[in-house]
Amino acid sequence: MTAVPLSLLPDTAKVLHDGSLSIGGCSVGDVAAEFGTPVFIYDEQHLRARCREAVAAFGPGRAVYATKAFLCRAMARLAYEEGMLLDVASGGEMFVALAAGVPAAALTFHGNNKSVDELRVAITTGVRHIVVDSFDELDRLEALHAEGLPVPAVLARITPGVHAHTHEFVATGQDDSKFGFNLGNGEAQRAVDRMRRSASVDLVGLHCHIGSNVFAASNFAKAAEVMAGFAVPLDLPELVLGGGLGVAYVMGEEAPSIMQWGNVLLDACASLGVRSHVSVEPGRAIVAAAAITVYTVGTIKRIPGVRTYVAVDGGMSDNPRPVLYGSGYEAFRPADVRATRSLQARLVGKHCESGDVLIFDAVLPEETTVGDLLATPVTGAYGYSMASNYNMLTRPPVVFVGNGIARPVVRRESMEDLLRCDLD
Ligand code: LLP
Repeated sequence: MTAVPLSLLPDTAKVLHDGSLSIGGCSVGDVAAEFGTPVFIYDEQHLRARCREAVAAFGPGRAVYATKAFLCRAMARLAYEEGMLLDVASGGEMFVALAAGVPAAALTFHGNNKSVDELRVAITTGVRHIVVDSFDELDRLEALHAEGLPVPAVLARITPGVHAHTHEFVATGQDDSKFGFNLGNGEAQRAVDRMRRSASVDLVGLHCHIGSNVFAASNFAKAAEVMAGFAVPLDLPELVLGGGLGVAYVMGEEAPSIMQWGNVLLDACASLGVRSHVSVEPGRAIVAAAAITVYTVGTIKRIPGVRTYVAVDGGMSDNPRPVLYGSGYEAFRPADVRATRSLQARLVGKHCESGDVLIFDAVLPEETTVGDLLATPVTGAYGYSMASNYNMLTRPPVVFVGNGIARPVVRRESMEDLLRCDLD
């Protein structure tokens, strides 16, 4: 049985002489002691490096961070400082990005069911692009223009009919999708024709996103090929090929780097005669491996001949991905990173249901005991951002570490926060 692969840990992770883990020059044990558990610890240098890699791979103004993966003001600011633009998929994400000081002109506004109010804010603040997803949205945009609002620059979201190899819930490029205008049945052409004729929108490009956590470069090349077939004759200035680059979550998984992804996409576009500016919207690939979540073990239940349950102080409220998508994770003790893991157990949380599982078939250090810290790596994407207050658990804090300093960027929710919206 092996120790946790160090390749799954954030860039600045170091195993200290006593076998314990430090990230960003901070002892993980000390950060957990200071901020309590569960806690999300992000390696700031890792985040910055991935943003820079995306900008280097696709060019300035061509790498758009998908904030749904992880958003707070510090993250929005960091991505923008490193040269990325931001994709926001709701009025709330737009609000947080603007509150971080990111200019509206750096935002792309997404969503399959944007409200009139959200569209109004997007237009009046002057977002860079609105990605139009449906004819109903186009009706709303035309009505807003009739009210006297300015003409927004828009992209048309196209569903290319490409089925990405990923979990059904995060595949979006296939014909049977709630997103976008269908290429195969002529809807995309009708949408583009209408937008080109419309005085209410300025169609500047096309957009597609085939799905999330996609590992096969060939899936992206296929989407580029299908989109190029439609885009080249239209000759619009922008072509956005979405996000979706997968990351390794568990031992043995391997994903292309952002740079390799860039090469595949840009080479494919060049050979297909695409003359538009090609942009992408990575979320997971920027933030997933930058963070670990640290928990405390509270209860160990051994059922002879059946299974061992190891329960920690978080669960499906800070990481719903295992339950939603059957996603796998590794776990290890930050006090002893190199410990071999031979205890087969189910790592569970503290929620009131049996489905509250963090790792279905975990291998943990044999000596794992109550009171130990346990960490799960690669939890920087779609963990905090999908966290909930189920069972009235308070959401964990987010701490950025770097240069030996641990900086809380989101505090732990308090019990009072649980009553914030409660009108009694
Ligand atoms: N652009 C668009 C239009 C998207 O819908 C998404 C993700 C992205 C970019 C970023 O995709 P990424 O690079 O992060 O794969 N909650 C799921 C993932 C849902 C992704 C939704 N859209 C999960 O935890 O796996």
